[in-house]
Order: sequence, then structure tokens, then C-alpha cells
Amino acid sequence: MQASPDVLFMRRALQIARLGEGKVAPNPLVGCVLVHPEHGIIGEGWHPYFGGPHAEVNAIRSVHNEDWLRESTAYVTLEPCSHFGKTPPCADLLVAKGIPRVVICNTDPNPLVAGKGIEKLRSAGIEVQTGILEKEGAQLNRFFFTSFIKKRPFITLKWAQTSDGFIAREDGSSKWISSVESRLRVHSWRAEHQAILVGSGTLRTDDPMLTVRGWKGKSPVRIVLDPDLTLPTHLRVFSDPTSETWVLNQVKDESTGHLHFKRLNPLGFTLADVLDHLQKDGIQSLFIEGGSRLLQSFIDAGLWDEAFVFKSDVVFGTGIKAPVFQHHQFITSEHSGPDILQKFIH
Ligand SMILES: NC(=O)c1ccc[n+]([C@@H]2O[C@H](COP(=O)([O-])OP(=O)(O)OC[C@H]3O[C@@H](n4cnc5c(N)ncnc54)[C@H](OP(=O)(O)O)[C@@H]3O)[C@@H](O)[C@H]2O)c1
Repeated sequence: MQASPDVLFMRRALQIARLGEGKVAPNPLVGCVLVHPEHGIIGEGWHPYFGGPHAEVNAIRSVHNEDWLRESTAYVTLEPCSHFGKTPPCADLLVAKGIPRVVICNTDPNPLVAGKGIEKLRSAGIEVQTGILEKEGAQLNRFFFTSFIKKRPFITLKWAQTSDGFIAREDGSSKWISSVESRLRVHSWRAEHQAILVGSGTLRTDDPMLTVRGWKGKSPVRIVLDPDLTLPTHLRVFSDPTSETWVLNQVKDESTGHLHFKRLNPLGFTLADVLDHLQKDGIQSLFIEGGSRLLQSFIDAGLWDEAFVFKSDVVFGTGIKAPVFQHHQFITSEHSGPDILQKFIH
């Protein structure tokens, strides 16, 4: 079946929204396409970075002849905002420009907007249609939506396991299980997330940098759980200033350079406390790279959304067992160099 023009133009708006990936958080990814019945696409814009102009503003700025707007449809991936934030309301701008029709993919879960943008457009006499490619839009902005709906960051789990189900040798001598291709993908995922977390066992054994390398993008904030501050201070997450390191602990609140010690409940904290803290600090996406015990504690608590598991053809025989899911839905399986990459959702 052929896609309708509304679907085609919304697909284009979703495509350009992605150009803000890794740069807009904690704002959503938004794209806007302006279409004239005779001239076709007359303007396009996206939200390029946090605090930057909204997609609708950039799309309107890109139009050569503003008179055409009075006969055009605006395709916007997220309900236009109705409140004064870092920029004036986009709903007012669309009204002021005399755009007669607005097609929207998702309504905004932010209570400051949540339907008020649509209301504003309709009460100005604009024809509004919603829900076009809604599922695709929700997937694109899964970090933003999860943060508003579940009141915690979107959680992505990732690990690599041998064909006999181990993530490491007992003595920690097995640094790489997955291939170069798979490891490059991991760097691309790091660049998409706002924060990254590994267990203290992994920090002690592997001393990872947890930065983005070999891929373009910002390194995520490194989260370390160290309740009593017992981790060795020579670890690279403490000494390397490439990105911030937040040490969640029970002892002190202190900041020096890239290192931020954040005291949670001094009597002990749970994973829910950790997520609550990250949510309050504006973290909408958390990438958890291991090891097995940390991943299993998130799985057992039901606190995850998406998981990527690399299966290599390496055999260990013995070692640290890979995590095990309780409830999950298997989504896809594909080759990643010599490995198999499986995707699961909760
Ligand atoms: N193949 C892979 O994809 C992969 C990825 C990462 C790591 N690894 C390997 O995995 C090995 C380490 O795995 P592991 O399972 O032994 O250790 P781990 O999961 O990295 O760390 C376990 C530690 O994290 C802390 N922790 C776990 N759950 C916690 C929670 N809910 N709240 C607070 N702290 C929590 C605990 O530290 P305390 O006991 O200090 O409280 C626990 O001992 C290493 O050899 C590493 O090379 C493999």
C-alpha cells in the first residue's frame, strides 16, 4: 500500500529530527517540514542543540517566500510548545504566520505543554491532525518520553557474552569478547546517551575510560556507585577529565574539576534512589555496560527498557556468568562483524 503524503512528509520530519541526536537532551528531538500544495517542501528545520531555536522556528527561517506559509501545512514531530521556556511559544509563531494546517506526530508529555499547544492552534482556527507515525515518534524520543512517564531515565543494558554464556574469565584477564565492529557500535551508543554506568567490579578489573572514541559525539557523564568511597583513586574515571564523573556515595558532597561527589542517603541507597537522583539532575538516558552483578541487579528490579547483547563465537568453559532476563521480548538479531547482536525490550 502506498503511504499518504502526510505519512511521507512526517517521515521526513522524523528523519531531520535525528540531526539533533546527542545534542538536545534534556529537550526532545524535533523536526519540522513546511509543505506548500504547489511548491512542495518550502522549509525544513530541527532542534539542533539544547537551548537552541526550536524546529518550527528554524523551518520558518528557511522559507524564501513567507507568503507561501498562508497556504502551507506544517509537519511537526512533537506538539508545538505553548509556554515561554528558553524560546517563545512555537504555537504562537505558527498562528502568527497564518499557517492553516498543522500535522503532529506525538503530543508532548511535558505537563507544561500536554495538549495546550494543540488547543492554542485549534482555537486560532488552524486545522490540526495528530498521531501520524506516532509509534516511530515515540521510539525516536524514547528517552524524553520515559523520563516524563516513568519518572526515571530510559535504561539501556549492554553486554558481550561468549557462546557458552560467560561475560568474563574469573580472573578478569578477558578484556575483549566482542569484535572491533561491535565495540565501535558501543561507542555510537555511548554518544547517544547522557550517562553511563558500570559496576565497581568492572572499574577495578578493567579500569575503563567510558568515553566516546572512534565515533563523533559527546562522551556521557560517567556514573560511579561507590557508597563508602573505597574505589582506588588512580582509576581513569577519576583522573581523566574528558567528561564529568559523578560519584554517588554516602559520605560527601564535593566538586573538583570534572569530579563530582554526590551524597545520597547516608544510611544506604537503592537503585531506585540512584535513578531518582539522576532524574532530578536532568539525566534522561542511562547506558549500563556491566558487569554481570550490576546488570543483574537492574534486571531483577525490573529497571530496564532496552538491552543489546553481543554473542561471540569465543568459548571460555568457565568464568563469570552472563546476566539472565526474567521478562523480556526478543526483538531483532543481526550480524555485527563475526558476532551476533540481539536486541531485547522489557
Ligand atoms: N563482557 C562484557 O560485556 C563485560 C562488560 C563489563 C564488565 N565485564 C567484566 O565483568 C567483570 C566484573 O563483573 P562483576 O559481575 O564481577 O562486577 P560488576 O557488576 O562490574 O560490579 C559488581 C559490584 O558493583 C556493585 N553493585 C552491584 N549492584 C549494585 C547495586 N544494586 N547497588 C550498588 N552497588 C552495586 C557492588 O560493589 P560492592 O560489592 O563494592 O558494593 C558489586 O560487587 C569484569 O571481569 C569485567 O571485565 C564484562
